[in-house]
Amino acid sequence: MNSPTVKKMIMAGLLVTTLFLLGGVSHAADRAELVNIIKTIPPNGPFWKYGTLEMRRRSKKAGMSAVVFPHWSHRSRYTCRVCHEELGFSMRSGDTGISRAQYVGGKYCGACHNGVTAFTVQEGEVRHCDKCHMKDTAALEKRFDEFAEGLPFAKFGNGIDWYEALKTGGIRPQNALTGEKPILPLPAKLKAPMKLGTAAPRSDVTFSHEEHYLELDCSACHPDIFNVKKKGTKAFTMENNIFGNYCGVCHMRVAFPMNDCKRCHTQMSGNYTP
Ligand code: HEC
Ligand code: HEC
Ligand code: HEC
Ligand code: HEC
Ligand code: HEC
Ligand code: HEC
Repeated sequence: MNSPTVKKMIMAGLLVTTLFLLGGVSHAADRAELVNIIKTIPPNGPFWKYGTLEMRRRSKKAGMSAVVFPHWSHRSRYTCRVCHEELGFSMRSGDTGISRAQYVGGKYCGACHNGVTAFTVQEGEVRHCDKCHMKDTAALEKRFDEFAEGLPFAKFGNGIDWYEALKTGGIRPQNALTGEKPILPLPAKLKAPMKLGTAAPRSDVTFSHEEHYLELDCSACHPDIFNVKKKGTKAFTMENNIFGNYCGVCHMRVAFPMNDCKRCHTQMSGNYTP
């Protein structure tokens, strides 16, 4: 059943359904375009690995094992803004350039891994180096399975529906390093989901500030990812998204990935499964 021809046939079937369901979009999205989109989406890896980063640049030079940073474990405890706003971690992998001197001094990982909030980064009688500089990930994978068990299921990404988990209290991340930062109510004009793209929308996708502002500050998206002064993000294509731009900055790496078509294209009923 695994022959390339069969795969192609399944793919063709999927395309037909998808095109049909996209209906009103067909003026912009022709079949060849869609084929290209679907081909470029990488298959979903193991659930525990999605959003789990390997940081090896400095560690390797120092003869240490690579650092493994699981987003799933941290995002259940803290909203994105705690790390990406308050603590200044970049949303581009490798960009922060964390040194040992910095985190031992209480910056970045060291803001929490201080022996009080979480296991410490410091030297001492009990060393926890290998909890971050992991020789192997078997223990982490096991913890993931236990962790994910009680949470709502999604087909892609971590196999966890994070949005549902947040809404139903399955996870209760704190939104400041210490205490709670009051979240300002969303301005009325941003409450309704908005149509994306330019004068000729290419899809049925809308963007909802409501679905994002509890986890993310305005500055997570404006002006770096979406410059609203320029009005109507240009080149808002799926291809650009898949290569990690626009929505894809998060929705290919930490938030549910592009494979999960219908969570953005609500009119679409199929999903692409490689
Ligand atoms: C406990 C801290 C922490 C939390 C909470 C956190 N992140 Fe991150 N995030 C990091 C670190 C550390 C990196 C890597 C930065 C680097 O390599 O310079 C990162 C990297 C990223 C990247 C780039 C990943 C890649 O593969 O290129 C994205 C996207 C991202 N985070 C999004 C999010 C989103 C969305 C949330 C909330 C759902 C979130 N993060 C919550 C610490 C955090
Ligand atoms: C905002 C606070 C915070 C920051 C920043 C943070 N952590 Fe954590 N981390 C925690 C907490 C809390 C735990 C769970 C408590 C414990 O295990 O002691 C944890 C657990 C972990 C674990 C074990 C994961 C598991 O669930 O088994 C690893 C690995 C880890 N952190 C790595 C890192 C690395 C690497 C960084 C920096 C790139 C970092 N953390 C930054 C709070 C943080
Ligand atoms: C909370 C997670 C965490 C713990 C615990 C931890 N480290 Fe690190 N360490 C990091 C991160 C993140 C980096 C940067 C990763 C990279 O770029 O390779 C790093 C990098 C390093 C580097 C190279 C940094 C540089 O400035 O060149 C050394 C050496 C190092 N760690 C030693 C240790 C030792 C020794 C321990 C235990 C006493 C330890 N680490 C515990 C997260 C941790
Ligand atoms: C997760 C990303 C994200 C976050 C966080 C976010 N926005 Fe937006 N915002 C968008 C997108 C996407 C658009 C539409 C861009 C386009 O069509 O070019 C937009 C559009 C806007 C617009 C233009 C509205 C219009 O009618 O033209 C304003 C104003 C705005 N955002 C303000 C905010 C404010 C204030 C916050 C914080 C409360 C915020 N945004 C948080 C992604 C975000
Ligand atoms: C800065 C990071 C970021 C950017 C950029 C971003 N999102 Fe999100 N989005 C998230 C996070 C985090 C969630 C929570 C769910 C999750 O993590 O899977 C979310 C949730 C959603 C949801 C709710 C899912 C549901 O089950 O109802 C939709 C829909 C969505 N995003 C669409 C978009 C679209 C469309 C864009 C681009 C215009 C976009 N997002 C840009 C981070 C981001
Ligand atoms: C995170 C949200 C998100 C997910 C998931 C997503 N898309 Fe899109 N899609 C978009 C955005 C944003 C646009 C451009 C919106 C516009 O300009 O009207 C778009 C546009 C499109 C278009 C119009 C042509 C183009 O390139 O702009 C097609 C076709 C399409 N998507 C197919 C898919 C398929 C197939 C999947 C699943 C494999 C998928 N999308 C998953 C957000 C998403």
